[in-house]
Amino acid sequence: MHPPAEASRSPRLGRFITLEGPDGAGKTLQAQRLVAALEARGLATRLTREPGGTSLGEGLRSILLTPGESPISPRADALLFNAARAQLVAEVIRPALEAGIIVVGARHADSTLAYQGYGAGLPLAELRVLADVATGGLRPDRTILLDIPAEVGLARKTADGVTRFEAAFDLGFHERVREGFLALAAAEPDRWVVIDATASPDEVAMRVLEAAQSVL
Ligand code: TYD
Repeated sequence: MHPPAEASRSPRLGRFITLEGPDGAGKTLQAQRLVAALEARGLATRLTREPGGTSLGEGLRSILLTPGESPISPRADALLFNAARAQLVAEVIRPALEAGIIVVGARHADSTLAYQGYGAGLPLAELRVLADVATGGLRPDRTILLDIPAEVGLARKTADGVTRFEAAFDLGFHERVREGFLALAAAEPDRWVVIDATASPDEVAMRVLEAAQSVL
């Protein structure tokens, strides 16, 4: 007999909520606000970010986001983002969920579909297999898309917050990323909630909290 797949090996008591969206949508701020709001309601919550969140992941983050001399191929990008993700799931996310903690992720596997898939043109089916290998089949319970037009999001970025993706990819790339997120959300409406991220930060925070609470 085969051992049970990692995905079904142990009960998941916590909830996994992810925030996704184009660059400059405000995911970092909104993820922090969501964690604060849930903790204020007495819920044990853990914030993660991708790429990053572990020692290996933060090392990969600096390689992946620092604008460099030679371009990184989309396939290498996909593998490295997923390597960081595999470590984060094993070291942080899965243990937290098993301990009944709510995990709020600023980006997760859908970012690879949007950026390396819709943006850079890699086949979505291959990227889905890769993400399943990295996460052991873990899926978010709720994914919140902070939707913003590409040029509005990019204009919000300050010079010191510019990553390789803003520096090396053109507006067309970022527009495909945004359309990609919207297509992913439309294809799986039970998991995704789309929020207009051009609204005020307080308004967005309120909608994000509502979307999260609906799976708690
Ligand atoms: P992010 O953490 O949102 O950057 P910042 O905090 O500086 O705003 O995201 C980092 C960049 O990495 C962003 O441009 C999207 C990109 N990215 C991918 O291309 N694929 C992925 O799988 C992930 C997680 C991020």
